[in-house]
Parts: sequence; structure tokens; C-alpha cells
Amino acid sequence: MRTWTVCLLWVWAAQSVDAMALLKERTVGEEARGTQKDREILKRSKRGWMWKQFFLQEEYTGTDYQYIGKLHSDMDRGDGTVMYVLTGEGAGTIFVIDANSGDLHATRSLDREEKPYYSLRAQAVNKKNGIPLEPETEFIVKLHDINDNEPKFEKEVYMASVPERSHIGTSVIQVTAQDADDEMFGMSAKLVYSISQGHPYFMVEANTGIIRTALGPSDMDREQREHYQVVIEAKDMAGQRGGLTGSTTVNITLTDVNDNPPQFSQSIYQFSIPEMTEAGAVVGRVQAVDADIGRNAEMLFTLTSGDGLDMFDITTDRNTQEGILTVKKPLDYEKKKSYTLQIQVRNTHPDPRYVSLDAKDSATIRVDVKDVDEPPRFERPSYILEVKEDAAVGTAIGSVSATDPDARRSPVKYTIDRHTDVDRIFNIHAGNGSIYLRNPLDRENLAWHNISVIAAEFNNPQQTSRVPVYIRVLDVNDNAPTLAYFYETFVCENAKANQKIQTITAVDADEPSGGQRYFFSLALESSVRANFSVRDNGDNTASIFTRRTGFRRSQKSMHLVSVVISDGDFPMQSSTSTLTIRVCTCNRDGTMELCNAEALSGSAGLSTGALVAILLCVLILLLIVVLFAALKRQKTKEPLIISKEDVRDNVVSYNDEGGGEEDTQAFDIGALRHPEVMEESNKLRRDILPSEPLYAPPPLRRATNAPSRDNTDVRDFINQRVQENDGSPTAPPYDSLATYAYEGNGSVAESLSSLGSASSEAAQDYNYLSDWGPRFRKLADMYGGEDSDWDC
Ligand SMILES: *[C@@H]1O[C@H](CO)[C@@H](O)[C@H](O)[C@H]1NC(C)=O
Ligand SMILES: *[C@@H]1O[C@H](CO)[C@@H](O)[C@H](O)[C@H]1NC(C)=O
Ligand SMILES: *[C@@H]1O[C@H](CO)[C@@H](O)[C@H](O)[C@H]1NC(C)=O
Ligand SMILES: *[C@@H]1O[C@H](CO)[C@@H](O)[C@H](O)[C@H]1NC(C)=O
Repeated sequence: MRTWTVCLLWVWAAQSVDAMALLKERTVGEEARGTQKDREILKRSKRGWMWKQFFLQEEYTGTDYQYIGKLHSDMDRGDGTVMYVLTGEGAGTIFVIDANSGDLHATRSLDREEKPYYSLRAQAVNKKNGIPLEPETEFIVKLHDINDNEPKFEKEVYMASVPERSHIGTSVIQVTAQDADDEMFGMSAKLVYSISQGHPYFMVEANTGIIRTALGPSDMDREQREHYQVVIEAKDMAGQRGGLTGSTTVNITLTDVNDNPPQFSQSIYQFSIPEMTEAGAVVGRVQAVDADIGRNAEMLFTLTSGDGLDMFDITTDRNTQEGILTVKKPLDYEKKKSYTLQIQVRNTHPDPRYVSLDAKDSATIRVDVKDVDEPPRFERPSYILEVKEDAAVGTAIGSVSATDPDARRSPVKYTIDRHTDVDRIFNIHAGNGSIYLRNPLDRENLAWHNISVIAAEFNNPQQTSRVPVYIRVLDVNDNAPTLAYFYETFVCENAKANQKIQTITAVDADEPSGGQRYFFSLALESSVRANFSVRDNGDNTASIFTRRTGFRRSQKSMHLVSVVISDGDFPMQSSTSTLTIRVCTCNRDGTMELCNAEALSGSAGLSTGALVAILLCVLILLLIVVLFAALKRQKTKEPLIISKEDVRDNVVSYNDEGGGEEDTQAFDIGALRHPEVMEESNKLRRDILPSEPLYAPPPLRRATNAPSRDNTDVRDFINQRVQENDGSPTAPPYDSLATYAYEGNGSVAESLSSLGSASSEAAQDYNYLSDWGPRFRKLADMYGGEDSDWDC
């Protein structure tokens, strides 16, 4: 049953057939949705087709409601019982329907580009009871496009680049515009591109928007013009009159190609450089111009010919592309005063498409060498002179020579660097460099005198140079050989005749070139009634033999034998040395048993006199230490640590009972850190002590052997002091040495902190001194040896 008639008020028939076809296509989708119903409708209808669309022109400018069309139901017999109801998109707001007549209006102007169609539903109902007279039907209000949108480019400004010297027609960039109008309908969205600025360099393809170069390679030269501003227009309506236009700007840059070779800015470059400039120094810079940029302007300089190829080098400064001429070898003005060089420049990366591969430019460089005042030059880098050690003062030893290399040939003045000849042994002739002996030499004292001679220009004394002069002192036989050692020889009373009792040898400070040779013989005074003989062994040694038997100690305890030793050099030097031969009693094997008392005196210990002197020294030293400590204490009573730097480790030395040289534990710090251990070791040492009377002087030693009661006494005293010190708030935080003198139990004074009185009463009690004794004896050994004279 067919109920609706759609009245098309707007005559779309005026539109082209194409548009109609399009419309038809477009509605296919919509119809698909309602196929079910439509099929029904179509089945029942005898009509071949029907439009369920209203058309409405967009952008209506009138003041009234825009009339769209009229809805009519077959059920409406015009008796006013039917009422039309509209629902769907925009119903009641954008679209209103006259409930009685079914006239459809749009309330305002609509934009197709905003929403191209609206889907609505209409129904005819009974006005009285509201009962639908038939099912709802759906229809579409479609907006008809007008050309109300101009083409728009995506960007306002495009950036593009194309290599310079590109062939005509090289594509640069494509610019496209969009038109919001309906491209399916009419020409409103049909765009055509044109170029409005940028002629004659560029063109644009009318239908694609591709920009291409419009001139040949020779006209597209970056070095002529680099930047172009091109304006492209897009026109809709296929470019016809009345179409809308949009435009955009394209900034086109020509990129560089290597189409220019470098060229020197000058044909001759002139430089000057002082002679003697060290290798690597820069002489000057040359510049070549290349119109290209970046990598295409990189260039390479070379020296091609000229007379200074081995003296100079040229490199390229990578930052400035300048050629840097440098010195390869130091120049010498006196040898060559100027150089001429040919230089060449070419691109590092030439492009054969534009410039020949061997395109290059040449120029000339002239380098003048400037004279520099040079110091004198010695003929040799060093001199070795020789002089005999017995040379007379004033003898000429040799000479050095230096000249001024400058053209002026300034005279040279020679001096000896006195720091190298502090004893002023040599003199130099200031004018000609002859070196003379000023003081006598002694090779045995100093075999080499290595001095420096300074040469200064007479006119310009600042210009100096120096040369080492090694003066070797040649040996002259000026020393006689002597016995190599002090021989302690003895002869046994039971010695046989012709028995060897000693072998002797000799020494000589000289150094003969042929080696030492000594000759031994008995001196004249010993050869009369000789009791011994000397036999030269021929190998620089000699043997002493007895000539008789029956040496008697009681008769003559000591024999003196004079031996003459001479060397084989010229002039011959000889000396007479006396051997002391003691007479001793021996056992049968010839082992010495008893000699004269004097014989032992050499190995005896310190004399009592020396010991007394040592003790006196010790006393005075202790006195000074104690006084010093007392003074210090008076000065500062506050805590000893004022600043942090004052905290440090101190070497601790306690006055313990030394056990003499054998006592390796006396300085054992470990023992001091662990008192238990110390206690033990103390005990140990006390055990050892009495059996070691080696170094203690006998009178004092006896005091050491005093009953151990004294020792405990002293220990108690020390323990007490230690406790006092530990408890004292003014005590220093580090280990320190406190010195006390303790007089022992029997003393009236008992304990004193100064040794003043102790020294005055030294005779009474030597307890502490006897404990010190071995230690100081050690010191005496260390510093003075046995024969030291302890004279304070
Ligand atoms: C485009 O070129 C013009 C003229 O050369 C210049 O003024 C403008 O700044 C350029 N635009 C851009 C985005 O570089
Ligand atoms: C240097 O001069 C002195 C004195 O005039 C002369 O005795 C000596 O031979 C000269 N030395 C040289 C190397 O000419
Ligand atoms: C002096 O030079 C000589 C030779 O170079 C060298 O053997 C000698 O040790 C040097 N003497 C001194 C004291 O420098
Ligand atoms: C050798 O010994 C005898 C007796 O002991 C002594 O009289 C004599 O002077 C000695 N000869 C020499 C050269 O000393």
C-alpha cells in the first residue's frame, strides 16, 4: 500500500544528468538501510522509482524559513484529521513541519561542508487520538553544494631545495591544495595550479602541483642567486572565471655543487722569516678563493717547483682553507738569503660533471730570509784536552775556538765558567781561546776537570754559547809504593831459620799505563847483622824469612825490619817501610801463645781516662736535657696539644737496663707496647745480664752487680712516675719521655727531677750511671770507635 508521495518542489531536473547519477549512487547506502521496507514499498508500488530525498541549497541567505518540500499521506483526504509528525536529525530545530499541510522548512542556513545531509522520519497520525495512520517513513534532506570554499594549501610556506645547475624540468617539490567543496558535484573542487611568482626560473604542473625548474643549468647558478621565492596559486572551477583561489609560497634554495675551482687571490706572495727559526714554524698563509661552499670549497695546496722545496712545506688549514707555509729545516741567512717557490691549489673533491678534474691555479711565493744576530759557534761540540799532572803552572793545555757565524764576524771573547772551575785551576786567553794551567794539578786527587768555556760576541756580549771541555790529568809517577796494610807480624821463639813468617804487598796511588810493578828489598840499615830476609816473589809480593833461630822474648821482644819498596816507573819512586816483628812463645805447631804485653795494648779497650771523659759528657748532657725540660714546663702549663698538627707519633725510649751490645731486645718497641711481654723480657735480660761483663768498665760494673733489691726499688719508683703521668690532666696525648734521677733508698734526697745535685754527689751512688753505662759505651763505639777522644 503506497502512502507517501514525495513532492519535489525544487526542480533538480535542471541539474545535469551526471549529477543525478551521482545522487543516485549516494543514496544507495541510505536505501540499503531500509531495504526491507523499501522492497515492500517497491513491491506494492506500480511506480518504477521514487525519490526519498529532498534537496536544499546550502548557504541560504534569505530571511524567511527556507522551503524544502511537502509531505503528503494518501490517508490525508484533506479533512483535517491527519497530523504530520517529524523526528530525526534536526527535527523541530533545523527542520520544522507544518502539522496540517506537511510543508517542510529549514529554519536557518546550512553548510554542506559542515554536514552534507540529514536523515529524518515522518509519520501521519490521527489528529484526534494520535494513532498512527500508517508506519513511519524515512527520508533524507540533502544539501546541495555551491562553490563556497576556496582551495587551501597544507602549508603557508614550503621550503624546498634543488641542486644548482640542474637540468630543465627537474622536479623540486609538489604542493597540493584541498578544496572543501563537493568534488563529486560540479567543478567547485576541481583545482588547477599556476605560478604567480618565480618566473622564469620555475614552473608548476597545472594539475599535479609539481614545481620544476624552468631554466637550463647555466641559468640556475647558486653563485649568482641562491634563494628564490615562488608563489603558487590553486584555482577551483578548473581555473575558469569565477573560481576561488588559494596560494602558497615556496622558498626554494639552490644547493651547491662543485662548479668552481679555487683561485689564488694573488699571483705573487711575499714572505720573510728570520734565519734559524725552528722547523715547523709558520712562514705565512696564502689564500685561494672558491665560490663554492663547504666540502666543495675544500682545497689542497702543493709546492710544485722552486729552489726551496726541501726547506719548506705547505699544508691546508682545515678551518679556513688557507695554505700554511712552514719551515722544514732551519734556514741560514749566511747560506741563502731568499727562496722562490711555485704553489698550486686545487679542489679536494672536484666534480668532473662541472669542472675538469685537473683544474688548478698556480702562484709564486718568495721567501726572504732575515739575518739574525747569532751567538758564536764552537768548532767542535766538545773538547777533550790532556795535561800531565806535573805540568808547570802557566803551561798551555790546549785551545778552543769559536767564530761568529754572522756576516759581521764579530770577534769572540772566551771565558771559563767559574762554576765549573771553582778552584780556578785553569785560565783562558780571552782573545784566542788558549787554556793555561793556573794552579798545580794532582791526578791522584782529581783525574778529570770538566769545565765549560763560554764564548761571547765582543760587540754583543748577550750572544753567548758554551762548550764542555774535558781536561784529563795524565798520570806521572809521583807516588812511592807503600805497604798495603799494617802487618802485625810475630816470630816464634822456636822458629827455624829460613822460615817464612809473613807475606807482604804494596800499594801505589799512581796508575802506570803498564800496570803496577813493585820491587822489595831489605833496607840498608836492616841488612847489617840481619835477623830476617826479604824475598821478592816477583808478583808484587814479598816474603819475610827468618835468617836464624833462637829468638828470645826475654832478650829482645821486638824486631824492626825496614823494607824498601820501589816501583818500576819513571822516575822511580821508592819508600822504606818498617815492619814490627814481635817475638812470641808458641806451641809446637807454631801457634802464638804469649807475646809481649805491649803487643796486646793495640786491641785493649778504652783507657780509664777516656771512660771518665765519657761519663762526664753524659752527666753534662743529662743536665742540659733536664734543665731544658724544666724550662719548657714553666713556659707552658696548658695542655700540650693546641693544634691538631701537633698530634704525632713519638719515638719512645725508656731507660731500661741495657745488656750491652748483645742485648738485641733493648730497643724492642713491641715489648714496650705490651707491658706483659716487657716484663718477661726484663726478667730474661736480668738473667743474662750478670754473665755479660764484656763492655762495662770494671770499676762501674761492680756497682751493677749490686743486690737486686736496688732494681726493684728503681722499678717501683718508675711505676709510680708512670702512674702519675697517666693520671695527670696536663700530660701530652702522645708517648713522651720523662727523665728522673733516682738516688736509691739510702740517699737523703731519694729522688730528684734534676741531675744537678746528682752530679755533685756522683761519688755516692752510681746506680743509674751503671745502668746507662753499656748504652753509652755503645754510642761511643758508634761514633768514635775505640780510639775516640771523648773530650766534651
Ligand atoms: C622565504 O623567503 C623569504 C624571502 O627570501 C624570506 O623573507 C622568508 O623568511 C623565507 N621564509 C622562511 C620560512 O624561511
Ligand atoms: C794565543 O795568544 C797567546 C799570547 O799571545 C799565544 O801565546 C798563543 O799561542 C795563542 N794561541 C793560539 C791558539 O793562537
Ligand atoms: C768528566 O768527563 C769524563 C769524560 O766524559 C768523565 O769520564 C768523568 O766522569 C767526568 N768527571 C766529572 C767529575 O764529571
Ligand atoms: C839481630 O838480633 C840481635 C840479637 O837479638 C841484635 O843484637 C841485632 O841488632 C839484630 N839485628 C838487627 C839488624 O836488628
